[in-house]
Amino acid sequence: MRVLSGIQPTGRFHWGNYFGAIRQYIDLQQEHDGYYFIANLHALTTIRDSAQLQQLTRDAAIDLLALGLDPEKATLFIQSDVPEVSQLTWILMTGTPMGLLERCHAYKEKKARGVPADAGLFTYPVLMSADILAYDANWVPVGQDQVQHIEVCRDLATSFNHHFGEAFVLPEARVLDEAAKVPGTDGEKMSKSYDNIIGLFEDEKASRKKIMRIQTDSRPMEDPKDPETDHLFQLFRLMADGPAIEEMAALYRQGGFGYGHVKKAVAEVADAYFADARARRAEFENRPSTVDDILNAGAARARETAAAVLDRVESACGIKAPA
Ligand code: ADP
Ligand code: TRP
Repeated sequence: MRVLSGIQPTGRFHWGNYFGAIRQYIDLQQEHDGYYFIANLHALTTIRDSAQLQQLTRDAAIDLLALGLDPEKATLFIQSDVPEVSQLTWILMTGTPMGLLERCHAYKEKKARGVPADAGLFTYPVLMSADILAYDANWVPVGQDQVQHIEVCRDLATSFNHHFGEAFVLPEARVLDEAAKVPGTDGEKMSKSYDNIIGLFEDEKASRKKIMRIQTDSRPMEDPKDPETDHLFQLFRLMADGPAIEEMAALYRQGGFGYGHVKKAVAEVADAYFADARARRAEFENRPSTVDDILNAGAARARETAAAVLDRVESACGIKAPA
C-alpha cells in the first residue's frame, strides 16, 4: 500500500504530535511504501514570516528523521519541492463546487468567528487533495479533524474520473489512534494553540520545569486514586515500560503518594524515551549536507511519481495530447 501523510510546520513538534501522529507514521513505514512531507504551502496560510517558515520547515524535517523516519524505507520531502502538486491543484479547482469548500470546517469556523478568510484557506482542501492524488496514495493516516478533507479529496477524484475517465486512485482515510490523545500541562488536549505543550526537542531543563508545573488536583496524598482518569499517569504510561506502568498504577490505587513523585517519574521516563532521538537530532544538525541530500533525493522520487500522475491527468482532460 502507498501510505501518505503531510504535517504542517506551524510550530515545533510536541508530545501530542509524536504519540498522536508521527510515531504512527513511522510504524507504517515498515510494511508500506510511505510518502511523508512537510506541508509548507499549507503553513503559508498561517505563517507570514519568511525566516520563521524556512526554519520551521527545516526543523520539522530534521525532527522526523531524528524520531526514526528512515529515508531508505520512506520518501521524505518538502511539499513545495514538487511543483506538480500546485499544477494539479488548479486542475482540481476547476471541478470543485464552491458549496463543497464552504462546508469545510477550517474556513467555516473562521468565517463564523468573523475573521476574514483568504482564498488560500478556502481552497486549502483542494491543495490537500492534490497532495494525496499526485502520488496515487491508497491510505492517508490523519487525525479525526482531517477526515472531512479526505472526503473532499475522494469527491473530487470520483467526479474527475467520472467525467474524464479513470485518472485518479481513490484514497482512504486511516484515522489515527484516538486513544493516543495526549493531555497537555493543563490536563486538556495538548495543542500549540493552548499554550500547554511540552516540546519534543526543547531544552531538557525547560521541559523538566514544565513537567513539574503540570496542573494536578488537590485531593489529599493518602487518598487512593484511579490512574485511568489522571492525566499525569496518562503521560507516564506513554513512555514507561510495562512493569513500571503496573507499579505506578498500583501506587495510585493504594494512595499515599504525592504528585511531585509522579512528575519526577514522568520527567525521567521522558528523558530516557527521547534520548536516542535527541542524539540523532544533534548529529543531523551537525551534518546539514546529509539532510539536504535526503530531502533532495526524497523530492526527486516524489516528483517522478507526481509527474507521471500529472501527465495522466493532463492527457485525460485535454491540456496535453493523449500519449
Ligand atoms: P496542534 O493541535 O498542536 O496545532 P496539529 O493540529 O498541527 O497540532 O497536529 C498535527 C498532528 O498531530 C495531527 O495529526 C494531530 O491529530 C496530532 N496531534 C496534535 N495534538 C495531539 C494530541 N494532544 N494528542 C494526539 N494527537 C495530537
Ligand atoms: N492539513 C493537514 C493537517 O493540518 C496536513 C496535510 C496537508 C495533509 N496535506 C496533506 C495530511 C495530505 C494528509 C494528506 O494536519
